[in-house]
Amino acid sequence: MRLSEPVGIASLGLKIPSFFLDLKDFAHLRNTDPNKYEIGLGCREMALCLDQHTVVDLALGAARRALMRRKGGLDQIGFLAIGTESGLDMSAPLTKWVARELRLSGALRSYEVKHACLGGTLALRQAYEWRCSPASKGKAALVIAVDDTLYEARSPGEPTQGAGAVAMIVDEPLIAEMDPCSHSWSRPADDFWRPVGEPYPHVDGPLSLECYNQGALACFQAYCEDTNQTLGNFLENIKGMSFHTPFPKMVQKALGVLCEKAEITAGNPNKAKELFLEKVAPHLTWNQKIGNSMTASLWFSVAQNLCGRRIGEQISAFSYGSGCGAELQLLTAGPEAQAAAWAQDLQEDFSQRTRLSAQDYDSFRTRNQAVKSGFPAAELLQNKRGFRHAS
Ligand code: HMG
Repeated sequence: MRLSEPVGIASLGLKIPSFFLDLKDFAHLRNTDPNKYEIGLGCREMALCLDQHTVVDLALGAARRALMRRKGGLDQIGFLAIGTESGLDMSAPLTKWVARELRLSGALRSYEVKHACLGGTLALRQAYEWRCSPASKGKAALVIAVDDTLYEARSPGEPTQGAGAVAMIVDEPLIAEMDPCSHSWSRPADDFWRPVGEPYPHVDGPLSLECYNQGALACFQAYCEDTNQTLGNFLENIKGMSFHTPFPKMVQKALGVLCEKAEITAGNPNKAKELFLEKVAPHLTWNQKIGNSMTASLWFSVAQNLCGRRIGEQISAFSYGSGCGAELQLLTAGPEAQAAAWAQDLQEDFSQRTRLSAQDYDSFRTRNQAVKSGFPAAELLQNKRGFRHAS
C-alpha cells in the first residue's frame, strides 16, 4: 500500500555512553569461560552509563545529532515521543527533561511510551501515523528510543547489558520510507518485568526466548500473507534484516525458526547460517559493541543496515518487547541512505570511549546496587546532574 505523500525517516542521530566493558574482562570477573558470552550469546562488549551519565544525556546526545543534520528549526517539530523502559517518574514523561534541555515547547505533543523493548517502535509508529494525518499540519516528529540496562549483578542477563539512544526525525523519507502497514502481534506473558520500585528486572529466560520466536514467526507470516508471497521467497529476496537484539545469538535462533517454517533448510542444512551471514550479521556489529540497549537495540541495527544502501532497497525491522508484543516494519532506502551521515556518530563515540577494568566495573556495581535500592530514579538524576524535578 502506498500513500500519496511518502513518509519515513528524514534524519538519524545515535549516541552511546562513554564507557564500556570488554566481555573477556567480565568473564574473568565472573569466573566464566569467555566463549559462553562470545560464542554462546554472540556478545563482545557492553556500553555502560556510569555515575555521571543518565538516559537524559543519551537521549539529548542522539536528538541533537539528528536535529543538527536536518534543515528547518525546532519550530518545525510538532511531536516528541520517547520510547523507554528507563523512565524517571511514574507520572512525568522522560520528554519533560529532554524538551527542557532542547528548549522545545509550545504547539507540541510530548510524551513517553512504555512497552519494554517495543516502546521505541511503538513511538515511531505513532509518530508516523500522526505525520500522515492532518493533525500534524505538515510538521515533523522527533522520536527517541533510549535505555540504560542493568540486570542484577551475577544474574544470567548481566552479560547482555548495554545502553544507548537512537533519535529519528519522521518526515520526508530521505533516509528510509516506512511501509504504511506494520504487522503487530501480542500475547500477555510474564517473561521479563520490573515491578514498581524495584531496581532490576525479573526474567524467565526460557519463556522470553520462546515468546520472542513466537512473535517473530507470527509477524513474518502475517506480512507474507498480506503481500501474497511465501516466507521462503521473502527470505530469499529481502536485502537485509534487522531484529531486536537482546544478544546476537537470539537473532540467529529466530532466523533459524523462520527458515525451518519456510522449509528452506530441507535441501541445504547450512541455508539458515548462510542467510544469517549474508543478510543479518553485517548489521549486528554495532549491537555486539553496545549490548542490549532495549528500545534502541533494533534501531541501532536498522541504522547500520541502512548505511550505503541504494535507493529502493528494502529491509525489514522486527521489534520485540517483553510482556509481550512484537511488530514488523518494512523500510525502503531513500536518497540519503548511501552517504550514511549518522555512521560518524558511532565512529566518534566508539573511538572516544574508555574501557573499564573488571575492578572498576565491580566497584561501580557495588555503588549502583546501594544507590538504586535507596533512591527513586528522578532523585538520582537530580543528584547527578542538578536537574530540577518539578517543572
Ligand atoms: P544462561 O542460562 O546463563 O545461558 O543465560 P545458557 O546456559 O543458556 O547458555 C547460553 C548459550 O551459550 C547456549 O547456547 C550454551 O550452549 C552456550 P544455545 O544452546 O542456546 O545455542 N554456551 C557456550 N558456548 C561456547 N562455549 C561455552 C559455552 N557455555 C555455554 N563455554 C539467557 C541465557 C538468555 C537466559 C540470559 O542471557 C538471560 O536471562 N537474558 C535476559 C533475557 C533475554 O535476553 N531474553 C531474550 C528474549 S526476550 C527479549 O528480547 C526482551 C528483552 O530485551 C527485554 C525487553 O523487552 O524489555 C530481554
